Amino acid sequence: MHASVLLGLLALAAVPGSARTLDYPFNIAARTPAAPDLTPAEIISQLGPQLSANSSIFADDDRRWANATERWQAYSRPNFVVVAEPATEADVPVIVKYANSYGIPFLAVNRGHGSTKTLGNMQNGIEISLAQLRSIQIAEDEKSALFGGGAFDGEVMDTLWEKGFVTGTGSCSCVSLMGPGLGGGHGRYQGFYGLIIDMLISLNVVLADGSTVTVNETSHPDLWWAMRGAGHNFGIVTSFEAEIHPRTVDEWFINRFIFTQDKLEAVFEVLNEQQQDGGQPQELMNYLAFSWDEEFSTTEPILDLFFHYVGSAEDAAPHLEPWEAIGPLSSTPQSLPYPEVPDATGTGLHSDMCQHGNTNMQFPFSIKEHNITATRQLWDYYVNVTTARPEFQQSIVVFQAYSLQGVQAVDPDSTAFPHRDDRIQCDVLVTYEPDDSLDEDAIAFGKQLRQHSADGHPGEEQHVYVNYAFGDEPVEQMYGYEPWRLERLRETKTKYDPDNVFRFYNSFM
Ligand SMILES: Cc1cc2nc3c(=O)[nH]c(=O)nc-3n(C[C@H](O)[C@H](O)[C@H](O)COP(=O)(O)OP(=O)(O)OC[C@H]3O[C@@H](n4cnc5c(N)ncnc54)[C@H](O)[C@@H]3O)c2cc1C
Ligand SMILES: *[C@@H]1O[C@H](CO)[C@@H](O)[C@H](O)[C@H]1NC(C)=O
Ligand SMILES: *[C@@H]1O[C@H](CO)[C@@H](O)[C@H](O)[C@H]1NC(C)=O
Ligand SMILES: *[C@@H]1O[C@H](CO)[C@@H](O)[C@H](O)[C@H]1NC(C)=O
Ligand SMILES: *[C@@H]1O[C@H](CO)[C@@H](O)[C@H](O)[C@H]1NC(C)=O
Ligand SMILES: *[C@@H]1O[C@H](CO)[C@@H](O)[C@H](O)[C@H]1NC(C)=O
Repeated sequence: MHASVLLGLLALAAVPGSARTLDYPFNIAARTPAAPDLTPAEIISQLGPQLSANSSIFADDDRRWANATERWQAYSRPNFVVVAEPATEADVPVIVKYANSYGIPFLAVNRGHGSTKTLGNMQNGIEISLAQLRSIQIAEDEKSALFGGGAFDGEVMDTLWEKGFVTGTGSCSCVSLMGPGLGGGHGRYQGFYGLIIDMLISLNVVLADGSTVTVNETSHPDLWWAMRGAGHNFGIVTSFEAEIHPRTVDEWFINRFIFTQDKLEAVFEVLNEQQQDGGQPQELMNYLAFSWDEEFSTTEPILDLFFHYVGSAEDAAPHLEPWEAIGPLSSTPQSLPYPEVPDATGTGLHSDMCQHGNTNMQFPFSIKEHNITATRQLWDYYVNVTTARPEFQQSIVVFQAYSLQGVQAVDPDSTAFPHRDDRIQCDVLVTYEPDDSLDEDAIAFGKQLRQHSADGHPGEEQHVYVNYAFGDEPVEQMYGYEPWRLERLRETKTKYDPDNVFRFYNSFM
């Protein structure tokens, strides 16, 4: 049964994504390197001496290689000949200019969670590891901080909280600020302060030709617009200034609920009610996943909900009642400081979610409201396939409902992020130990799960959060359907990166 379901879907998987490349002057395949291929040893001996004292540069015979090149997503990974790890911001333009002089492709690698299959187009390049650029300096007026381009969530949350502040980060401790931030950046404080991009004040950027610029409202305003939503395509951020905010509570309230499948309709009704018209209080967010968890059942998946509230259990109580009323299989409340929230919700540094090395294909879709009939079909299909194919049982379907107040407070035209009205970030995550023979079925499975949602929203634009994209979605789904958005992105691209050297992360060219 499952085999025929999957087979029928392979045709779907074969539908091409965008064929935009042809319209544009950059023909990457036709570009020839300026010099014949260099060996890793030659690159190291030429580039190494140009870098500052504490920088590193090494190839695959070095003990640091595995750690520096391992990734969260094993499928369609980028492939490198050397890793250069700058110790200072000033090393980055040196590496970029060197790479350009030989026509060697390069890619900034931050925390290695980027999962789009377009990263696999990077072959035989130089990895520019941002691992050492992680400084966090709070400004004297305590309204902003200067962060290294490689700053990551766990360290930022801990450091700021201890000093009495918070800022916008993604939800998982393991992810960088800029990886998500250049594509928008959803996170637990967005109800208050907006997306990561909404907290940015200024970026220090190395452009395609190795020149360095400050990008902010008055300096390169065209890039300032484009990099807040499509930033991976324009440069390497070596440091950035962002707002910080005094922390408002000492503890967050978290309640984990487990529901059995017979409660699915009731659960999604409450989700729809709590998000009605974007009216979700800014303190409230719900993070729901379909998953298999043998602690609760070995025969069927469960609905695993983390209710979050920025405040006390008493303040959360009215929003909690509808969940209790459904009759959860289990309900576990907890109050804890913000930096401990990731560990308590399966999104901490040591959580399964953060670990590198598996195949992790994502098929996201963003929606405004759940069509519960379609959600039930999606669930049934998830159960059917994962029951018949236990190798896919680590796969999950996630529905993240963050508050939108901070996100909608910003003029939607003022940044390249196109999806400020999407209330629910959904993501099919197909996970398994790397095995090429499963990839085709995995893609068909993931796409069909997403298709159930699309079928439930006939006539609506399909929206894809660029940072979760599988990598073959039409560009309009990621960067916006309004023609002016893509025109503006492409104009800015032509101006700053005419050779499209930043082409490996969901390019719109
Ligand atoms: C476990 C997990 C949790 C996630 N949680 C969230 C979340 O809560 N919110 C959210 O919005 N997204 C989230 N994401 C998606 C996330 O935004 C992307 O996966 C993002 O690409 C990861 O960034 P990274 O630094 O870890 O990855 P990398 O693979 O190192 O980088 C991803 C891309 O960003 C580019 N890049 C990174 N840093 C810079 C820089 N300083 N300058 C220029 N380019 C840069 C890289 O060149 C690459 O193209 C999550 C992903 C995972 C795997
Ligand atoms: C290199 O690192 C060492 C040890 O952390 C430090 O003392 C030294 O100042 C650094 N050198 C430079 C040039 O930054
Ligand atoms: C592995 O790399 C990360 C950065 O990517 C670094 O923070 C960590 O210290 C490295 N671990 C080891 C054992 O080298
Ligand atoms: C923007 O950058 C310019 C040039 O570096 C600088 O003079 C200006 O103060 C910056 N503006 C902000 C808001 O940071
Ligand atoms: C799931 O499997 C059942 C039993 O084989 C079938 O009737 C049903 O149509 C399937 N549902 C989906 C959504 O694939
Ligand atoms: C909800 O989804 C079902 C199943 O795809 C579909 O038939 C129905 O038309 C959808 N309802 C609305 C209001 O779009």
